Amino acid sequence: MTDIKITIIDRQGVKHEVDAPTDMNMNLMEIVRSYELAPEGTIGICGGMAMCASCQCYVLSDHELPEMSYDEDLMLAEAYNVKENSRLGCQIFIKDELNGLEVELAPEV
Ligand code: FES
Repeated sequence: MTDIKITIIDRQGVKHEVDAPTDMNMNLMEIVRSYELAPEGTIGICGGMAMCASCQCYVLSDHELPEMSYDEDLMLAEAYNVKENSRLGCQIFIKDELNGLEVELAPEV
C-alpha cells in the first residue's frame, strides 16, 4: 500500500495533513469523508456522481489535474461559491502525481 500526503483545509479554516492511499481508487471526497473533515451529510451527497457539488473544493497548489469531464464542468457551472480553481473532489482520484496536493473545502450550501 502506498500513500501520498494531501493537505486539506476544512470549512472552519483548519489545516489537516492526511495520508491518502493511491491503490484503492479513492477520490478526494472519499478521503475527506474517511477522515471526517466535514460533517456527514454535507459532503458527497450524490455519492460521487458529479451531481451535487457538495464536494466542491479549491485547489491551492499548482498540481496539474486531469481535465474536467463534461459532467463536472456542467455541475460547477450551476454550483455556488465557484472560483477559478474550483473542482469537484469526487472527480479527483488519488494518484502518485498528486503528492503534496493542497485543497480547501468550499463552504457548505
Ligand atoms: S459528491 Fe456530488 S458532486 Fe461530488
